[in-house]
Amino acid sequence: MPEASRILHPGLRQKIMSADAAAQLIQHGDHVGMSGFTGAGYPKAVPIALARHIEQANQGGGHFRIGVWTGASTAPELDGALARVGGIETRLPYQSDPVCRARINAGEMDYIDIHLSHVAQYVWFGFLGRLNVAVIEVAGILEDGRLIPSASVGNNKTWLDQADKVIIEVNQAQPAGLEGMHDIYYGTDRPPHRRPIPMTHTGDRIGEPYLHVDLDKVVAVVETDAPDRDTVYSAPDENSQRIAGHILDFFQHEVSKGRLPAELLPLQSGVGNVANAVLSGLNRGPFDNLTAYTEVLQDGMLEMIKSGKLALASATALSLSREGMQEFLDHLDFYRQRIVLRPQEISNHPELIRRLGVIAMNGMIETDLYGNVNSTHIMGTRIMNGIGGSGDFARNAYLSLFMTPSTAKGGAISCIVPMVSHVDHTEHDVQVIVTEQGLADLRGLAPRQRAQVVIERCAHPDYRPALRDYVARAERNARGGRGGLHTPHLLDEALSWHSRYEREGRMLP
Ligand code: COA
Repeated sequence: MPEASRILHPGLRQKIMSADAAAQLIQHGDHVGMSGFTGAGYPKAVPIALARHIEQANQGGGHFRIGVWTGASTAPELDGALARVGGIETRLPYQSDPVCRARINAGEMDYIDIHLSHVAQYVWFGFLGRLNVAVIEVAGILEDGRLIPSASVGNNKTWLDQADKVIIEVNQAQPAGLEGMHDIYYGTDRPPHRRPIPMTHTGDRIGEPYLHVDLDKVVAVVETDAPDRDTVYSAPDENSQRIAGHILDFFQHEVSKGRLPAELLPLQSGVGNVANAVLSGLNRGPFDNLTAYTEVLQDGMLEMIKSGKLALASATALSLSREGMQEFLDHLDFYRQRIVLRPQEISNHPELIRRLGVIAMNGMIETDLYGNVNSTHIMGTRIMNGIGGSGDFARNAYLSLFMTPSTAKGGAISCIVPMVSHVDHTEHDVQVIVTEQGLADLRGLAPRQRAQVVIERCAHPDYRPALRDYVARAERNARGGRGGLHTPHLLDEALSWHSRYEREGRMLP
């Protein structure tokens, strides 16, 4: 293939330059909207070149830093490279990079953790300031200048619309067969001009397969030839398999009660190993003709499509391991008919999640007795990844499940605690808690009933006596006139498990 074969627009071909030259167009203080969602479709060359510039500028006593806005997490070539040279002033809306995480927790970088469905509209509303530059990876450019999106859509439509300047990376390594898989909806607007989004089924196509860009804004086109990050999933361990088993039993029970149809409702599956393991469980389970309305399509879902269990999947990104990507490439025509990739404001849209009746299944760090969930902060202060889309789904789902092993760090930590050390999802948005110990169905239960079910069904047996004791003393305290009985707590003690862990490396004496 000739080198420029994926850049068919003559005017944009004129703008081809090196990543280094393109990176020079980004200035200190710029807000830069980059493509990329869970390690898919992020720019591969300009961020690394920019990191080199920043390093040089700062070695000479400069203070070159930018704001980095993305779809979600990216890869070492973007977050890692820029964070390593101290080049990020502010990061939003989601990250999972170890270098970024360390910088954020060391106070060297600001991080704004935002619901993924909110990001695009916050930029349209002007809530986040001006977007100076967009750096967007695409799989190709058509003759008329329309762009073939790559392995993720994320916020690309918004970045291209809103940025003053646009840099396009055209990645030869992205499968040409991605063309036609995307559905880019251009019907969104700002209040008071909004109209209902015309989607009633998971697979509905309501937009067009290409992204648009004002060609006058394009300042550089950079050619790359590099694969996406290899997203490694660990094989489902015993705990994850048990969690999956409890969820399958629960779904069967709900079908038998007539509260779920036999083919269930569209599934959303969160990030992480536990979520991926649950998909493997569903793949072996009794349900057929399933659908997914989710954010990220990971290996587990690909396997379900392959086996025929999953008939259709809507997402905003493909987050696949090397082997998963190979499987996808080998059978691209098969998968293309069953997968739709959408902008994240649509994949995570509250209106659509509510209308479709999505079953949301997300991982968590800890839950408290009453069902408040912490998805983001270790011991209340150290960011892990971010809320991602978990709130978009949990808040609006037909059923909202959160899952975790009952303990962490070899049993030194209980993931069921008296009070969570940080709240991402309040008790009002959490209906089901699942650990390897069991499943707590919190629907229709008042707080004190919730506490009983969470302890007896989900807590690890080693922690049950201490949790029961906490609840009993909190209730006695309240009956003694010190506090209310609606949601009893011992305020001096509620976070003592966390502070003991920080002091002694374990939650219980
Ligand atoms: N206290 C301290 N550390 C804890 C912990 C707790 N209560 N619970 C888990 N951890 C640690 C684990 O030990 C592990 O650490 P390690 O990487 O050093 O081994 C790490 O957190 C991940 O835990 P794991 O049990 O493997 O879970 P996971 O891979 O399924 O991820 C979350 C769990 C919560 C981190 C992950 O689901 C997440 O980031 N969620 C928020 C975003 C989200 O839900 N997005 C989906 C929207 S579509």
